Amino acid sequence: AVDISTFMKQTGYTTLDQGFVNTSSTKSAITYIDGANGILRYRGYPIEELASKSSFLEVAYLLIYGQLPTESEYQDFTDRIRHHTLLHEDLKRFFTALPPHAHPMSVLSSAVNALSTYYEDSLDVHNPEMVEQSTIRLLAKIPVIAAYAHKKSIGQAFLYPDNSLDFVDNFLKLNFGNLAEPYEANPVLSKALERLLILHADHEQNASTSTVRLVGSTEANMYSSISAGISALNGPLHGGANEAVLKMLAQIQESGEGVDRFVERVKNKEDGVRLMGFGHRVYKSYDPRAKLVKESADEVLAALGVNDPLLELATQLEQVALNDDYFKERSLYPNVDFYTGIIYKAMGFPTRMFTVLFAIGRLPGWLAHWREANGDAKTKIGRPQQLYTGEAERHYPEDRGFQ
Ligand code: ACO
Repeated sequence: AVDISTFMKQTGYTTLDQGFVNTSSTKSAITYIDGANGILRYRGYPIEELASKSSFLEVAYLLIYGQLPTESEYQDFTDRIRHHTLLHEDLKRFFTALPPHAHPMSVLSSAVNALSTYYEDSLDVHNPEMVEQSTIRLLAKIPVIAAYAHKKSIGQAFLYPDNSLDFVDNFLKLNFGNLAEPYEANPVLSKALERLLILHADHEQNASTSTVRLVGSTEANMYSSISAGISALNGPLHGGANEAVLKMLAQIQESGEGVDRFVERVKNKEDGVRLMGFGHRVYKSYDPRAKLVKESADEVLAALGVNDPLLELATQLEQVALNDDYFKERSLYPNVDFYTGIIYKAMGFPTRMFTVLFAIGRLPGWLAHWREANGDAKTKIGRPQQLYTGEAERHYPEDRGFQ
């Protein structure tokens, strides 16, 4: 077998694959996807089994270290994360420097990058102990930063983490607790959030993970690499889709245009409008995560006694789209984010927090990929080629007429 890049170099050819539709940028042993058959496995374990039996931190351990933890490994891992939940008090002042209307995703990416200024001791990417230290710090502190971004956006005081609680309940308390009253966890919400975080935990070489790997390939530190991943996730074609879905549903409801008319506009590509939460680069059948999210949406809304007309609207949109030739011919099905926003809304999160929740879920995947790309299987610095389409050589005029 001839290595394709060596062959291409020798023959003077280059490949053009805009959007990396059919180019593997790396080998990876973390996540397996079969897009034609709707299969997703983390380290070999089917997503359905992990979503029903595991916890988010156990899945994080699995993704990062490659195996399910033993009881003592799990205890040690969760203890270390608990130990690092506090933020430096000075970093809290960072939040007050940003405007009250700041989008929580921008706050999150900025604050995560700022973490590197507090932990210069752990920036050495060649030292495995420091890589481990940064991994734990990021898992511990990002949920706290995320909750503070939320509290800031609603003008409430930041709470200290409550390390007597598990990861998910601690996060919910940081978001929904206040200084005046005791906080009571709702097990239905905790279970649903745990499941959503697991479903988002990795998805191989998506845009944000590829960004983390690319930035990491320059040997930039983990905080900066993860901050770059958060920024990539923010776009509405990627993680920002969960926020965009809810805005789309609200707009259909408020305008009263009806599902059929909206779908017509999508099919006619009027003003570039898309059915947000539908379609996927890899899945050309039903996204296995979307099925599980829909189950959770039904469970959460039933348990809370919420009758959200947006759920009904989303279900109608799904039915219309699944039976329509435009969507069938293009293999467009609901993706993971079609129903997540409805659950986050029922939990009490503002729309602008939805992509932040995705980022917390995706964090273990980003960390696992950063470590894989910088570990034993260290890859070269990422440096794509281009096909130049600009001007041929030209020369600066002797007389520009105005200089
Ligand atoms: N609504 C309407 N039409 C769509 C949609 C959609 N959501 N998605 C794709 N199409 C159409 C395109 O217009 C195109 O049609 P054409 O051949 O007539 O031009 C065809 O389907 C192929 O679309 P591409 O954009 O080439 O597909 P690609 O693989 O590049 O894009 C993407 C995938 C970005 C996810 C796309 O389906 C999309 O924009 N979806 C909506 C946004 C979304 O939900 N993003 C979240 C993805 S999951 C995640 O990141 C967690």
